[in-house]
Amino acid sequence: MEQYVIKGGNPLNGTVEIGGAKNAALAILAAAIMTDETVLIENLPDVRDINVLLEAIQGIGAIVERVNRSTVRINGSTISDVSVDYEYIRKIRASYYLLGALLGKYKKAEVPLPGGCNIGSRPIDQHLKGFKALGASVDILHGSISARAEALKGSEIYLDVVSVGATINIMMAAAMADGLTLIENAAKEPHVVDVANFLNSMGANIKGAGTDTIRINGVKKLHKTEYSIIPDQIEAGTFMMAVAATGGSVTVHNVIPKHLEAISAKLLEIGCQVEEMDDAVRVERHGRLKKTNVKTLPYPGFPTDMQPQITVALALAEGNSIVTESIFENRFKYADELVRMGASIKIKSNTAVIDGVEKYMGARVSAPDLRAGAALVIAGLAAEGITVVDDIEYIQRGYENFEGKLRSLGAIIERVSSEKEIQKFRMRVG
Ligand code: UD1
Repeated sequence: MEQYVIKGGNPLNGTVEIGGAKNAALAILAAAIMTDETVLIENLPDVRDINVLLEAIQGIGAIVERVNRSTVRINGSTISDVSVDYEYIRKIRASYYLLGALLGKYKKAEVPLPGGCNIGSRPIDQHLKGFKALGASVDILHGSISARAEALKGSEIYLDVVSVGATINIMMAAAMADGLTLIENAAKEPHVVDVANFLNSMGANIKGAGTDTIRINGVKKLHKTEYSIIPDQIEAGTFMMAVAATGGSVTVHNVIPKHLEAISAKLLEIGCQVEEMDDAVRVERHGRLKKTNVKTLPYPGFPTDMQPQITVALALAEGNSIVTESIFENRFKYADELVRMGASIKIKSNTAVIDGVEKYMGARVSAPDLRAGAALVIAGLAAEGITVVDDIEYIQRGYENFEGKLRSLGAIIERVSSEKEIQKFRMRVG
């Protein structure tokens, strides 16, 4: 078990490079098996979730060749098995994207039913509704979803909730169905658009991704492509919010500023300076943060994956702020940990009522999930004294070299794996 140890109190300064979007990459890697030709994917983040999905893809018989840390070649012509092992879905829910990819290509797929997770119950009824509308029979047998069809037929599907996963999964299956599929009330997240662009680069015919109606004209076959994944909006936002919490001035490179608008707007509201460049954003904070209210919403609203990070910043702002979580039911678990660091936060169902404090005090805390884990690191960077964050494997699922990137901005943070190393760190940094 590894921990982060942090000596807080330093402002962050300098530049940081953002990697490829994890959530786009998860879907694109699954979609890459839909052709028998070789696909080259670049700008992959080297994070645990991606590496597990690559193993799952190998597990069904595809050839996966890691060209370098951020590039992979995949060939799906050797797939021998359309059933995905439980081991992978247990480690990463997003291996359910293999359901849409395999169903589209082979008209059959079997994937274990994903359970809940630390942020809520996370049903997949809308994915299954979409597959059924395309003519697949979907059964749940021994804890697995089995979807099959003689032929998939284009259809009109209205999503009852705006779901990123369902939009992408249905889009993949429909890319190889007969005729036209319409997905209404589709998710508009940048990674939905990235997956559509990737499929189109393989010969699919998808229009309207990024709006709430996606039109997919099915094609018989997909072909090889070379594709570079978009930058990670949430990794970028996490560094931006870290500057808000610690103060300083950081230029976040390799981003698409448009994807960060909801985050930049909130940073401006709370008193940070934000300057947008072509492929970079500079965030500065001098002086105390101001209060605001935030409600998470589907894109282009404020992302739920940035909710813990902005809460950490707002808990240091002057006055009362309210954060409302409208996407997931159980996403404030980290608040108790923040309170242990001196924050004043009261949770009432899906709302956090925050009374800003002047500072955090270092404490031993534990990461309950990926984004909340990153948020606790930010709190540690802003805190007086030493913070130890346990359970950082959650953070490693989605942030590449998090501590290295923070150190390059002047943070004092180390990854350790024993109490002895924690003691050594304490002695060294005082
Ligand atoms: C994706 C992201 C996750 C992000 C979330 C919302 C990946 C791998 N994960 O998750 O980081 O927090 O989008 O931006 O891309 N829902 C249903 N039925 C369904 C599907 C979803 O009721 O069939 C509900 C969910 O419980 C949730 C809401 O819809 O309340 C949105 O979920 P969804 O957009 O599907 O999230 P994911 O794709 O799982």
